[in-house]
Amino acid sequence: MRRIPWAAEYLTTSPSRIQIDQSWTTIWQKQEDQKLHLEIGCGKGGYSAAMAQLYPHDLFIAVEKNESAAGLAARKFDEAHLDNLRLIYGDGADLDLCFKSGEVDVLHLNFSDPWPKKRNAKRRLTAPSFLKQYKTLLSEEGQIIMKTDNSSLFEYSILEFLNAGFFLEDISVDFRREEHPEDPLTEYEAKFVENGQPIYRCIWRKHPVQ
Ligand SMILES: C[S@@+](CC[C@H](N)C(=O)[O-])C[C@H]1O[C@@H](n2cnc3c(N)ncnc32)[C@H](O)[C@@H]1O
Repeated sequence: MRRIPWAAEYLTTSPSRIQIDQSWTTIWQKQEDQKLHLEIGCGKGGYSAAMAQLYPHDLFIAVEKNESAAGLAARKFDEAHLDNLRLIYGDGADLDLCFKSGEVDVLHLNFSDPWPKKRNAKRRLTAPSFLKQYKTLLSEEGQIIMKTDNSSLFEYSILEFLNAGFFLEDISVDFRREEHPEDPLTEYEAKFVENGQPIYRCIWRKHPVQ
């Protein structure tokens, strides 16, 4: 991603930003019928912004570690003026600073970097250390929804989700074959769909669906 020169300064004053070591409960008091969604690796933030608009009753926090992408997401969120949407500029590996165990209802992983080389496998957002952390953060009915264009990352992730003890709720190897107005396209996804590439999607639960 190209460097955005104003991103660093913008992030220091953006009203949408919350600090990674600031508990999200200082921003919102979640009601029982509300869901807290967390998107890790949100890029420019289009997905979380669209979801927050589509589901105004729920709460959305997007996490991005790249400064330029986070700056663009922060500006998008500020311009959207949505009370249910915030950004964390930080690393998804440090989310235990902001969330206590069981606080997250839905975790979204959209087109995560595949890190194809084996020596970089630990950086994949579905590597065992990340999945262990997600399991702690998720509520008892919590879900992880993963979308990718990358079949190798998809295969790797399925095995790792199973190894980590997650339960498969749904799977598709061509999710956009049908219309899904309930699920907005991410920035990356829009390009893949335009190119006719299939979108792989899986949903995992911490516990089997009763
Ligand atoms: C391929 S882009 C996809 C962006 C967006 N989700 C989309 O679908 O358009 C992956 C993004 O994840 C971010 N990312 C990768 N590892 C991360 C981590 N550990 N914590 C937070 N963000 C991360 C990258 O900086 C990048 O912006």
